[in-house]
Amino acid sequence: MSELRTIAQRIALSVILLSFLSFANEAAAQDGKALFKANCAACHNIAKDATGPALKDVESRWPSKQLLVTWIKNWNKAVATGDAYAVKIKEWNPGVAMSVFENLSDKDVDAILAYIKTETDALNAAPTTVPGGPGGKTEESDNSLLYGVLTLILAVVSLIMLQVNANLRKLADDKDGVPAAEPIPFYRNKSYITLMTIVLFVIAGYFLSQWAIGMGRQKGYQPDQPIFYSHKVHAGTNQINCLYCHGGAYEGKHANIPSVNVCMNCHNNIKEYGGEKLYKEDGTEVNGTEELKKLFAAAGWDPAQNKYVGQGKPIEWVKIHNLPDHVYFNHSQHTKAGKVQCQTCHGEINKMDEVYQFSELSMGWCVNCHRESKVDFNDEKGGGNKFYSIYEKYHKEIKEKKRDSVTVSDIGGLECQKCHY
Ligand code: HEC
Ligand code: HEC
Ligand code: HEC
Ligand code: HEC
Ligand code: HEC
Ligand code: HEC
Repeated sequence: MSELRTIAQRIALSVILLSFLSFANEAAAQDGKALFKANCAACHNIAKDATGPALKDVESRWPSKQLLVTWIKNWNKAVATGDAYAVKIKEWNPGVAMSVFENLSDKDVDAILAYIKTETDALNAAPTTVPGGPGGKTEESDNSLLYGVLTLILAVVSLIMLQVNANLRKLADDKDGVPAAEPIPFYRNKSYITLMTIVLFVIAGYFLSQWAIGMGRQKGYQPDQPIFYSHKVHAGTNQINCLYCHGGAYEGKHANIPSVNVCMNCHNNIKEYGGEKLYKEDGTEVNGTEELKKLFAAAGWDPAQNKYVGQGKPIEWVKIHNLPDHVYFNHSQHTKAGKVQCQTCHGEINKMDEVYQFSELSMGWCVNCHRESKVDFNDEKGGGNKFYSIYEKYHKEIKEKKRDSVTVSDIGGLECQKCHY
């Protein structure tokens, strides 16, 4: 009988150990995901091309994993090896260079690659992209639910094992003639109750805080607009400069949405749409000429008579990007001083028929970019931003070759009051 007991004890122990292991495993997978989201997701998507190439199956494209790791940490070094693939892929996007990630350890990069690999496998197993839908919309395949269910099952099994163990002990005691204490059903057992309360408390606390932090965040938000105005048609096919309509993005804090008269500069001549067929996100076809009629109605303009006949009224565009009121964000600091491309933060707007929010706009997103982005000090070639001449210490260190670059965080980009009112 006591043999049975030890066996039962062992099984119970290993079940408990196993469930802990599955937690640890999940933690590693989460790390890769978190690192990817924080460092890479601004430019890369796993399933499709963005500012950088799609990272699906990336390992198989590279001659060796070692070189791939080198590239991710510092692409300059990979190109310097003269490897044909590295040299070729460097030309993939002539407009943007990948950031340098010397701060990532080999282990971090491994975790990222592992995450890319699991995502690749998931993609290869089940292609979930919405047909015709521009990106950001693929359902994220996430293993947490699976892990959660597994852990729960294991926990129940271990409880049962513990119960079995207790029963066996009681049997053994009976046999040895030890008087048994009054049996307590498990739902009245204090240890079980405490344990379950703690577990529930931790789980509920975790979800509550995640929900509270994420409140108001809306990555991927893509509302229907009053007029089907396509950035792909205007900024893509017809190559209209973003600043023609969003001049504020270079001059000041707000990018601004153009008023109806800006549209009418062109549309008192362009009265019909004759370009490629347009489709909404859900696949329904859009008649561009009908959409233009809505614009003319808003402008109070009669295309037949070629003149303004009524009172115009502003178009009520739905605002997509919304930072909370306690955050200060200034476009010109980024576009003019920082020379950050619109696409880095907004995605490839010039390929979107309907705009969606590309970036998370979380604090981590801002801060990570400030840690990595270099400011234009450029001492050697000259011509750096004159404003930075006040940072004599850094200039001195660059001359003495003690540092090779200055990031936004070095000039105070992580100070709370720079971003918070
Ligand atoms: C600022 C934008 C940017 C960020 C951030 C960025 N990348 Fe890139 N990445 C690029 C671009 C652009 C290319 C293509 C090479 C080029 O045109 O210079 C590229 C290329 C790559 C390649 C080669 C792709 C291929 O098809 O072989 C890999 C791998 C890669 N990036 C991984 C990463 C990882 C991992 C991270 C995060 C740690 C990251 N990148 C962050 C822009 C970025
Ligand atoms: C011909 C005028 C025009 C041009 C050119 C244009 N936009 Fe827009 N943009 C608009 C209008 C109108 C809206 C509001 C309707 C909408 O969201 O689609 C808008 C909305 C946006 C939004 C979302 C704003 C929000 O509500 O948060 C972003 C981001 C944006 N544009 C970026 C760009 C970028 C980047 C370019 C250049 C590649 C560009 N736009 C070119 C007219 C223009
Ligand atoms: C610099 C000139 C220019 C400006 C400014 C401009 N458009 Fe256009 N728009 C065009 C051209 C060119 C086309 C494509 C015509 C074609 O292909 O037949 C077009 C097509 C359209 C269409 C039909 C295709 C679609 O996107 O649904 C709509 C609607 C439209 N514009 C609305 C607007 C609105 C609203 C504004 C102001 C926010 C605006 N346009 C500003 C040049 C302009
Ligand atoms: C894609 C990278 C990137 C992202 C994302 C980003 N920034 Fe920046 N930010 C920069 C760069 C580069 C500069 C430095 C510009 C310069 O040269 O002065 C900067 C500068 C700033 C400054 C001025 C800092 C100083 O010391 O003068 C503020 C404030 C700021 N950013 C706020 C934000 C906020 C708030 C967010 C998020 C909503 C954000 N940034 C997201 C790249 C980024
Ligand atoms: C460093 C990241 C970053 C860059 C670069 C950037 N934007 Fe933005 N953009 C934002 C953020 C963050 C918001 C939300 C601002 C808010 O809610 O106050 C925003 C909002 C907007 C809006 C909505 C109107 C507004 O001002 O709130 C438009 C339009 C827009 N951006 C266009 C552009 C254009 C065009 C460019 C390039 C010239 C550009 N952005 C470059 C981060 C960026
Ligand atoms: C580079 C810009 C930037 C800097 C620097 C920064 N924050 Fe934030 N912070 C943000 C943005 C953007 C949000 C809004 C995030 C959201 O809506 O999810 C935010 C949100 C917050 C929140 C609300 C909780 C949340 O995550 O939404 C707190 C609290 C906060 N910041 C505190 C701080 C403190 C303390 C510091 C200094 C150590 C700091 N922040 C520095 C950009 C910044």
